Amino acid sequence: MTDTRQAVLRALADGPLSGPALAERLDVSRAAVWKHVEALRDEGFGIASTDAGYELTEIPEYGGDSVAFDLDAPFTVEYHDTVESTNDRARALATDGREDVVVLADRQVGGRGRRDRAWDSPSGGIWMSVVLRPDIPPARAPLLTLAMAVAVTDAAREHGVDATIKWPNDVLVSEVNEGTPDASSGGALVSDGKLSGILTEMEGEAGRVSWVVVGVGVNANVDPADLYEDATSLRNEAGPVERRAFVQRVLERFDDLRGDLERVLPAWRERTSTLGRRVRVHLPDGDLVGEAVDVTETGALVVDTGEERRVVHAGDCEHLRPV
Ligand code: BTN
Repeated sequence: MTDTRQAVLRALADGPLSGPALAERLDVSRAAVWKHVEALRDEGFGIASTDAGYELTEIPEYGGDSVAFDLDAPFTVEYHDTVESTNDRARALATDGREDVVVLADRQVGGRGRRDRAWDSPSGGIWMSVVLRPDIPPARAPLLTLAMAVAVTDAAREHGVDATIKWPNDVLVSEVNEGTPDASSGGALVSDGKLSGILTEMEGEAGRVSWVVVGVGVNANVDPADLYEDATSLRNEAGPVERRAFVQRVLERFDDLRGDLERVLPAWRERTSTLGRRVRVHLPDGDLVGEAVDVTETGALVVDTGEERRVVHAGDCEHLRPV
């Protein structure tokens, strides 16, 4: 993606323009205009040559230029049809000193989840990682993860999916089963479908964050059968989604929240289905079962076991049925 290609798109968004008029507006040669138009056509943009000049007729459903066009947030977008892991690529960019870059892919072949798990990332999903250099202490970095969970939840709801956040940052679609509890799952809610997960990685020194990579996977236009157990997808819940618009919505909302981290926790609390719920949190020293009663200022979960209140900073959380 180049700035000139974005400038061509912006110019054509206002209506048809002739080659010479475009060249003059962008201060480039007519040959350069032609080259950029061809590159955009190759990327799937419909650009018709009409009597009135070049006319923008179609924007592709996904891709770097497609997402960057009209995006109301200050991110550069780097797109890959296939990549090992967008987080790996984003880490390399972060190490090179880059900032506010979004690495986006249609498919990952080495997608990574939390706790060293693999993350199924077939074509049709949204696999993206955002490179940030926030001026915050490391203790506040988890708020960026929570902000991304809020952003994805809002975009999913706009698509008509009744999404909520499970602590700390899974976006779920929950259905409470009526009838007999499912004994095989130890009383867990068996119909939580996971729509999205987030893997945040960071580096810091001297009490400040150097860089943060927030990697988010959204099961968009994919078949849950091609994913891990208990997964669902936007398409499965509410029909196919236009990924370009979805990603734009997520990035714009995320950009809004990262600018004022004080707003993140209240927004997260409004959207979580974990607080007030019986939970089981898997910790290195064993399972913790109790009621999730609060989150701290840095996003840690407070669990009331009946005997004590424990503050949990990280761990897999499972929603349980009420006793
Ligand atoms: C989880 O375990 O819930 C977190 C999953 C995070 C997956 C995303 S997909 C985009 C980015 N690249 C990766 O390799 N992982 C994250």
